[in-house]
Amino acid sequence: MRRPILAANWKMNKTAADAVSFAEKFLPSAGQQAAVDVVIAPPFTALDRLRGALGGSTVELAAQNVNAEPSGAHTGEISLSMLEEFGCRYVIVGHSERRAIYGESSAQVAAKAVAVQGAGLRPIVCVGETLEERDRGDTLAVVGQQLEESLAGVSGGELVIAYEPVWAIGTGRVATPEIAQEVHAFVREKLRGLYSEVADSVRIQYGGSVKPDNAADLMAQSDIDGALVGGASLEADSFSQLVSIVASRAEG
Ligand code: 13P
Repeated sequence: MRRPILAANWKMNKTAADAVSFAEKFLPSAGQQAAVDVVIAPPFTALDRLRGALGGSTVELAAQNVNAEPSGAHTGEISLSMLEEFGCRYVIVGHSERRAIYGESSAQVAAKAVAVQGAGLRPIVCVGETLEERDRGDTLAVVGQQLEESLAGVSGGELVIAYEPVWAIGTGRVATPEIAQEVHAFVREKLRGLYSEVADSVRIQYGGSVKPDNAADLMAQSDIDGALVGGASLEADSFSQLVSIVASRAEG
């Protein structure tokens, strides 16, 4: 059985001080987890203080993005050695907002994921179709192509995939468990083609309007191994409810 992984993607929200207050509220109820990996991806500027605030808990840190180059003339960018210095264990790569707003291609996403693994960290590689692509009936073709291109050169060990349908992100319109499971099963099949047996140990998160009231049904699906959560991860109460839901899936 795959160990579930629940990750908070705070996007461009919370100062370092906000992150510390979140940790103070969140840790008493959810800071020690035996059966689920709980990860928080704050803005870069909050990594240092959040790391201090999380000390002694089982919660791990992620970055929301990284530059694949080790150093050099890349104004405004952050390298892997900078993230390692702050104890990041995971890096989200290829989030749909990076792809859509900042024009990141799947080839760039693959280069980042390869660099993340090369540094001994774990990439969370995001894929997902737009509403237009779904309405055209192209969901599996789009997700399949994104996977092939975004995983070029990436190894199957220490890999997490996040399926995030773009139409479900921040819209309150969650994919039904059946729709999500259909795509997750397809992703698993694709991973089997790329990685053979290792594919069964790759965790596939669902992301897009995950909330405490819809998470249990999603987590009950056989190929959904956790969630990547935006809005509902910003409040300590709702994120801690999500931890309990995902942990009970792990136990059940
Ligand atoms: P929401 O949970 O706010 O829909 O965001 C999902 C997401 O993009 C996580 O990466």
